Amino acid sequence: MASWARIRLLWRWAVVLCGVAALLTIQLNALFAEYKKVSSLMALQSPLLSIQELDQVEYLTLLPPLGLKHPQTINLNHEFLNQSSPARSLFFPSSWYGTLDPTNTNTNATTRFFLPEKIWLDTAGNPIQAHGGGILFDHKSATYFWYGEYKNGNTNLAESTGTARVDVIGVACYSSKDLWAWKFEGIVLASHPSATHDLHKSNVLERPKVIYNEKTNKFVMWMHVDDATYSKAAVGVAISDHPTGPFTYVRGTRPNGFDSRDMTVFKDEDDGAAYLIYASARNKEMHISRLSDDYMEVENVTVRALIGMHREAPAVFKHGGVYYMVTSGCSGWLPNEALVHEAESMLGTWETIGNPCVGANKEYRAATFFSQGSFVLPMPGGGGGDRGLFIFMADRWNPANLRDSRYMWLPLTVKAKFERYGQFPLWSKVAIFWHERWRAPIKDNGETYYVSKPFMAGDDL
Ligand code: GAL
Repeated sequence: MASWARIRLLWRWAVVLCGVAALLTIQLNALFAEYKKVSSLMALQSPLLSIQELDQVEYLTLLPPLGLKHPQTINLNHEFLNQSSPARSLFFPSSWYGTLDPTNTNTNATTRFFLPEKIWLDTAGNPIQAHGGGILFDHKSATYFWYGEYKNGNTNLAESTGTARVDVIGVACYSSKDLWAWKFEGIVLASHPSATHDLHKSNVLERPKVIYNEKTNKFVMWMHVDDATYSKAAVGVAISDHPTGPFTYVRGTRPNGFDSRDMTVFKDEDDGAAYLIYASARNKEMHISRLSDDYMEVENVTVRALIGMHREAPAVFKHGGVYYMVTSGCSGWLPNEALVHEAESMLGTWETIGNPCVGANKEYRAATFFSQGSFVLPMPGGGGGDRGLFIFMADRWNPANLRDSRYMWLPLTVKAKFERYGQFPLWSKVAIFWHERWRAPIKDNGETYYVSKPFMAGDDL
């Protein structure tokens, strides 16, 4: 009898334990399903990441390659300048370390990450050749057009100056709907066979920019034209009926007789006025002149700005009725510190407000993340000019092989005031944030997400 009682007791316990186990299993399953849902949401939409993410500070710690002599005292500037340094791959990573490749990447909008300094392929799988470039948004076709220097030739040294150069091939054009997957539209302005022509291959064609003129319905390209020693110092203008060209070269001039080297054009979308901005007086100052109504001529009022400052690579944008200009110092292909200047009118007084670079590390910030600006574009996808969110486009030049120069696109914000982040030094109200990878805002369920995330080994790009 006693053993029957024990068996019954054991049986009851067994039933209770089975019940508890079943409940636990159900609970754990539910928890796991919830976890899976949350993590997939985080991966796809990142709703838990704050809307401020693009302007969060991201540090960059570089692990020196083993081949370095004194890896614990790595000086990034020395390594960047030394073309045979084993650390060069930190600046010009091979495709092994990630490539922005629209041909074989998951093209879901949530995974369209920008990868500064990595190789960037076009939709045919070839590295994009649009250096020193700028972007035009064509409202009619809702398409972005990226114009830049096509440098897919051998780098050689100019005879008298020793400056690294590639023979003029022309201006390349790429089109995209999302700023991420770019289709090569061809060389829309090609070098010219005549030795006396501005665009002869022995010369220099740099920093092409295209703006659209509503009155004439033409696309107008301005560019820096020069000889191999940079002593001609002129601007060229070309015109086309279509954004994809072909462009017809019209003339090269020195604007109002002044020497003109690095340049850009800026079209004020509020009133349609366009301006030519160029480094002059042997790069000692920046000049600004308005363009004629058809954008084909330079008007004869010249504003001299940033006098004595030796700035170049101007990139202009507007936010909240204020004009901003990012410039670099003058050190040829080598990077240096960027500065931002502001003015209430393009032809007004320009005031310098500081180095915009935030994050990464000290050497990166002092060298514009080892790049040089070329253009600033309002961020699409819900950020845009209204919210003070832009894309800073820059080139990390590789003077040993100019065609391998990398594109450095990073988020730029304009805030109402100067800011401080913890121990981080004060930075100017225009800030460019370092991110190893980031993506433009994506609208999802009526909300906008800004996502940046440091690269993790094994991540699916
Ligand atoms: C840079 C300029 C580039 C190119 C280079 C040649 O200062 O920004 O566009 O001209 O010099 O050394």
